[in-house]
Amino acid sequence: MTKERCIPSHVAIIMDGNGRWAQQRNQLRTIGHRAGLKAVRKIVMYAASINIKVLTLYAFSSENWKRPEKEVSALLALFIYALNREIKKLNSHNVRLNIIGDISRFNNELQNMIIKAQQLTKDNSGLVLNIAANYGGRWDILQSAKKMATQVVEGKISVDDITEDHFNSAMSMSEFPDVDLVIRTGGEYRISNFLLWQIAYSEFYFTDVLWPDFTQSLFDEAINKFNNRERRFGGVRNEDHTC
Ligand code: FPP
Repeated sequence: MTKERCIPSHVAIIMDGNGRWAQQRNQLRTIGHRAGLKAVRKIVMYAASINIKVLTLYAFSSENWKRPEKEVSALLALFIYALNREIKKLNSHNVRLNIIGDISRFNNELQNMIIKAQQLTKDNSGLVLNIAANYGGRWDILQSAKKMATQVVEGKISVDDITEDHFNSAMSMSEFPDVDLVIRTGGEYRISNFLLWQIAYSEFYFTDVLWPDFTQSLFDEAINKFNNRERRFGGVRNEDHTC
């Protein structure tokens, strides 16, 4: 009997390569980001259809502010456009949208849209779509550490109460399972300050394909590769691990 394919509960994607995709076509980098958004649409719908529970996408890192001002504004404008255009469709597909990152640096228009979009979809029970925006893995750990320190200073907890579980409770996405599979497109083999805490036991899949060219079948290939990995979580081989 063939073993049934295991679908990872939580997949996180570093969508790299939009700029190069555009340059290869002698077009502006922003055209690459637009093409990237098309790939996002397809991959989100596919993830929902195969019952992935949580999909986390790295849309804008805390380091992306270093890009030329024009590109930063184009990326933010694309984000606003995507929120406006896609939120109804996401809602009708039972997707819950959740933004992770320090949104306080965004303008009021974008902050309000984010709050509204989250509010609209908060009770949806299908795919959770986390969009990392002005997110950095180190920022995430720091903001949790600050909350822990504040709780100690205010006498609410003692230093010994800072267990892994308690620290995790203040991290972004603490309500969701840890990431099972990280995918990075665009041919680089690094994590670029994306999730750090949440990927302690993740499997990694790297591909040279540029993000706008990423397809359902490549997503399937990543999941198939994930199925061939033996996850031990620091222990020994366990036949009972279903996934
Ligand atoms: C990396 O490619 C991609 C980004 C910094 C932005 C990702 C944004 C999208 C896919 C579109 C918008 C998505 C949402 C969810 C609204 P790069 O520019 O670093 O490419 P390069 O390495 O080829 O220069």
